[in-house]
Amino acid sequence: MRVEGRVALVTGGSTGIGRASVLRLAREGASVVVADINDADGEETATSAGGRFVHCDVSDPEQVQRAVDETVAAFGTIDILVNSAAFLGGAFPAGDMPDDEWRRGIAVTLDGIFYASKCAVQVMAAQGRGSIVSIASVEGVAGAAKHAAYVTAKSAIFGLTRSMAIDYGTSGVRVNAISPGIIDNGRPEQAELKKDPEVMRFWREMTVLDRMGTPDEIANAVLFLASDEASYITGQNLIVDGGWTIGHAPLPW
Ligand SMILES: NC(=O)c1ccc[n+]([C@@H]2O[C@H](COP(=O)([O-])OP(=O)(O)OC[C@H]3O[C@@H](n4cnc5c(N)ncnc54)[C@H](O)[C@@H]3O)[C@@H](O)[C@H]2O)c1
Repeated sequence: MRVEGRVALVTGGSTGIGRASVLRLAREGASVVVADINDADGEETATSAGGRFVHCDVSDPEQVQRAVDETVAAFGTIDILVNSAAFLGGAFPAGDMPDDEWRRGIAVTLDGIFYASKCAVQVMAAQGRGSIVSIASVEGVAGAAKHAAYVTAKSAIFGLTRSMAIDYGTSGVRVNAISPGIIDNGRPEQAELKKDPEVMRFWREMTVLDRMGTPDEIANAVLFLASDEASYITGQNLIVDGGWTIGHAPLPW
C-alpha cells in the first residue's frame, strides 16, 4: 500500500485520467473524494473507490472551497490533491477564437488549478505534509494548433507548479505536474476523432511508442508523485507521452 491512510481530492475525477487516478490511489490505501461537474459518472467512480463525490465546478472558487471543506469534514485532512479537470474547447485559430471560449479555457484549466491548490495547500502546510499533482499536457510543453486557450493554460501550469513548490517546500508540501501525450480516455468526442484514419496516423506518427497511452499509465505517474517514493521531487513536470516530445516516430525510409 503506497498511500495507506492518506486522503486524496481529485478534481475531474469522474472520467478518464482523473477516474483512473481515483481508483489507483484508492487501491493503494487512500481515502478519495471526487470533485467534478459530471455527477452521474462521479458518483459511480466514487462508489467504486469506496470514496465520496462532491459536485464542484473548479472555475468557481466557492465551490472549490466547499469541496476542500467537505473532504476535510469527511476524512479529517487532505494529503494529496490531483488537479485533472480541464476544458479543451473547440478548435479555432486564435484570431477566430470566441472570447467566451478563451475565458472558459483559462477559467477551468488554469484558474481551477489555482483555486484548488490554494485551498488544499493551506490544509497541507498546516499539517506539514502534502503532495499536489496537476495534469498539464504535451500541448503545454510544445504548443498545438487551434488550441490557444488550452495551450496557454497548460503551459502556465508549469509556472504555477514551480512557484508553489518554492513557496511551500519548507512546509513539507511538494507540487508537481504531469504532461500526458495522447491518451485514450474513452470519451465520445475522442471516439469521433479516432474514426478518422488521418487523425490516428498523425497521433501514431507523433508518438515514438506507436500507440495512444492509457489513463492507467498516467495514474501510475500520479501515484508515484503523490506517494513518498517521490519525496525529493518538487516543482517538476513529468512528461508521460510515449516519446511525443522527443521527436517523431521513425519514418518509413
Ligand atoms: N486525453 C488526452 O489525450 C490528454 C492529453 C494531455 C492532457 N490531458 C489532460 O488530462 C486531464 C484529464 O483529461 P481526460 O482525457 O481524462 O478527459 P476527461 O474528459 O475524461 O476528464 C476531464 C474531467 O474533468 C471534468 N471537468 C470538466 N470541466 C470541469 C469543471 N469546470 N469542474 C470540474 N470538473 C470538470 C469532466 O467532467 C471530466 O470528468 C485533463 O486535464 C486533460 O487536459 C489529456
